[in-house]
Amino acid sequence: MSLKANLITLSNGHKIPALGLGTWQGTDDPGAVEKAVKLAIDFGYRHFDCASVYGNENEIGKAIKQKIEEGVVKREDIYIVTKLWNDEHDPKAVIPACKRSLKKLGLNYLDLYLVHWPFSYPDEVDFVETWRAMEECVKLGLTHSIGVSNFNIEQLTRLLDSASIKPVMNQIEAHINLNQKELRDFCHSKGIAVTAYSPFGAPGRDSVFQPPGPEVNLDSPVIAEIAKKYKKSNSQVALRYLIDVGTIPIPKSSSKKHLESNIDVFDFKLTEEEISAIEKLERGFRTCPATQFNNLKEYPFQEPRKKK
Ligand SMILES: NC(=O)c1ccc[n+]([C@@H]2O[C@H](COP(=O)([O-])OP(=O)(O)OC[C@H]3O[C@@H](n4cnc5c(N)ncnc54)[C@H](OP(=O)(O)O)[C@@H]3O)[C@@H](O)[C@H]2O)c1
Repeated sequence: MSLKANLITLSNGHKIPALGLGTWQGTDDPGAVEKAVKLAIDFGYRHFDCASVYGNENEIGKAIKQKIEEGVVKREDIYIVTKLWNDEHDPKAVIPACKRSLKKLGLNYLDLYLVHWPFSYPDEVDFVETWRAMEECVKLGLTHSIGVSNFNIEQLTRLLDSASIKPVMNQIEAHINLNQKELRDFCHSKGIAVTAYSPFGAPGRDSVFQPPGPEVNLDSPVIAEIAKKYKKSNSQVALRYLIDVGTIPIPKSSSKKHLESNIDVFDFKLTEEEISAIEKLERGFRTCPATQFNNLKEYPFQEPRKKK
């Protein structure tokens, strides 16, 4: 049994592990994320998804430092992603924000820096302008790669038209009830890799982000039947589905049992028929619609976009 994720080569030649650990804890439990990252490293996780807005980059940094000091990993063995928040889109704010994240994480370079959302506030800065400063972050050696998150096809097209350093990644919500086929096919056709966030639909998250209605249905008979065949859990099938359609899931967990089982998905593979059956579970369910921002010009989840 191999618990280590395979590597995926990005358009710029850098390699990213095919599964990572989400670190949005949605809780103020002090030390929870530090403990989760240390356990995760021991279980073979090498890819960590962070964000300045999660408020825990310093804890993640502590965990990584300890594991490097213990000789369990070297800096070059791990892949660290973090994100620029929505109030830091002014081109003058980007490099300082990136440096702040580096300092909190205790690192001298990031593997991937993402623009967290296409919109910004209080000023609505055009993301094309923000991107110029993201490109500077690469030129200064602050990050190996840059990418985006929550961008739709129209926004990606406009970005690709003007970027001199192409985004290597679009991180989007994706799971069995929001398969994102059109967007992921578009990204792949442009050489943009896709990270699947909230791969379980963030069950039980009590937050203003959570829409009313039923959660992602991991207990679907379609999933249960496939799980039985491979002697895996329903959650493992939900993750393997995301891997087999070429996306990179980043499940969050702070439970030892879940951390161990979530990365134990590299010893089986779904058939085309099983993937098609899972794609029929699509129901357009978004756990992170961020509707509080739907008055902003670049709110990404309406086609055509709602203009101000
Ligand atoms: N770019 C963006 O805008 C954006 C938005 C949302 C999320 N993200 C990223 O994506 C990551 C993952 O998404 P998420 O945290 O929203 O939700 P998620 O990973 O879909 O779900 C996390 C929840 O599932 C539980 N869980 C984990 N493994 C499980 C298993 N094997 N069986 C049953 N339950 C399990 C966790 O509980 P335990 O801790 O008890 O295991 C936790 O409550 C985030 O942490 C963040 O890094 C990015």
